[in-house]
Amino acid sequence: MRSNRRGMAVAAALISVLACAPADGPAFPADARPGAPGIGDADFPTDGNGGYDVSHYDLTVDYTPATKRLDGVTTIRAAATQDLSSFNLDLAGLDVSDVTVDGSPAKFAHKGDELTVTPTTAIGDMSRFTVKVTYSGVPTPARDRANLGSYGFMATADGAFVASEPDGAKTWFPGNDHPSDKATFDFTITVPAGVTALANGEQVGQPTTDGGRTTFRWRERHPMATYLATATLGRFELRQGRTPGGVVNLAAVDPAFKNALDKLYQTSAEVTDYWSTVFGPYPFSSTGGVVDNYAAGYALETQTKPIYGGFDPDATIIAHELAHQWFGDSLTISRWKDLWLNEGFATYAEWLWSEHKGAKTADAIFDDYHSRPADDPMWSYPPGQARPHDLFNHSVYVRGAMTLHALRKAVGDETFFRLIRTWAAAHRYGNVTTEQFVDLAQQLSGRDLRPLFDAWLFQPRRPA
Ligand code: ARG
Ligand code: ZN
Repeated sequence: MRSNRRGMAVAAALISVLACAPADGPAFPADARPGAPGIGDADFPTDGNGGYDVSHYDLTVDYTPATKRLDGVTTIRAAATQDLSSFNLDLAGLDVSDVTVDGSPAKFAHKGDELTVTPTTAIGDMSRFTVKVTYSGVPTPARDRANLGSYGFMATADGAFVASEPDGAKTWFPGNDHPSDKATFDFTITVPAGVTALANGEQVGQPTTDGGRTTFRWRERHPMATYLATATLGRFELRQGRTPGGVVNLAAVDPAFKNALDKLYQTSAEVTDYWSTVFGPYPFSSTGGVVDNYAAGYALETQTKPIYGGFDPDATIIAHELAHQWFGDSLTISRWKDLWLNEGFATYAEWLWSEHKGAKTADAIFDDYHSRPADDPMWSYPPGQARPHDLFNHSVYVRGAMTLHALRKAVGDETFFRLIRTWAAAHRYGNVTTEQFVDLAQQLSGRDLRPLFDAWLFQPRRPA
């Protein structure tokens, strides 16, 4: 979904219809060519795909923990951004049995992580189309390139822990697996009775049980990056209600963490309401969190519902994951090298939380890190250019946060917090780049901040 292009696309489509549509037959068969196998992120050349833009995913997933088998049907609504003779979807492993485009059978070939779909007639630029993929198999999680663990669809004893950053959505559904193409999602998830399915957004109706299997329906009506989609499955204890500020709140914990439920519920509520006063209105229609009994070694800011892998989260990490709802989820990076816009902001939020609670100030935390010796590895890794083989480096988090604190000291609290709120409001539900943030900071402060950003984000040495 690229909302800023939509008006233009409609206008251009009208003009092309008036100017050159033939009376019958496909409008542009002669120009049709394959969509690119990658969306254009130089660091992740085969992630995402070219030639179309997804607006909606309808995911139907049937999963059996005992056999680890997933049966899926994914229906994607998209619009072509060129004349397409064929196009790719990202899908890792799994067996595709059927593909249709606008209801007609399409040819397909699945090689490596690319599913190439060739419809019987070419798709004209700017036309809307629907592709439906039927598939099944045992999902294989991806390995983090810096050995930070696995990601994607990870089987657990009683279900699955599904955390797909950066490009593990393709381990469980076919799609355009890159954050620059956001879309809305519907989930229909069927599991053995007794298992709970948790996905993004809110439940649609009550779960229905038939023949010993229960179907859960969830809907995320705000645009979402594929890596933020989850279908976390298992036995869970739930607590639901609203935050004091009025946001729907759902906490879920694996029975092994039942003592963590009330604290997860209350802290998530308190943090959501507090960030709403600091960053601006909460962007989504519910908040909360999920603790699963699976030692992933990390948490993920899955939209509306962060997931915590095998630990009882403290307020600091809850503050981090919920800050991502603004920075990462509502505002989403357009390419992975800008990851500090997610992790630097969420780490800085941890410092703001500490300050808010009367513990260490952000300034004191900044000073501690700044006093690290010049040969600390953080200083040789410029956080403004996250590296594809070491995306989640400590520098992206901590030096990213230090960049924001250096900026705050340079422009003053009033301008800094106005900038953060303006940033969140101006790009709500959209995609962002570092250049856009630097431009806005310069505009609102009326200062040349390029030397500051250059020293903190792009130089392989400790800033003065
Ligand atoms: N974005 C997550 C966080 O900072 C970290 C995800 C780590 N992912 C991974 N594949 N190791 O909360
Ligand atoms: Zn984070």
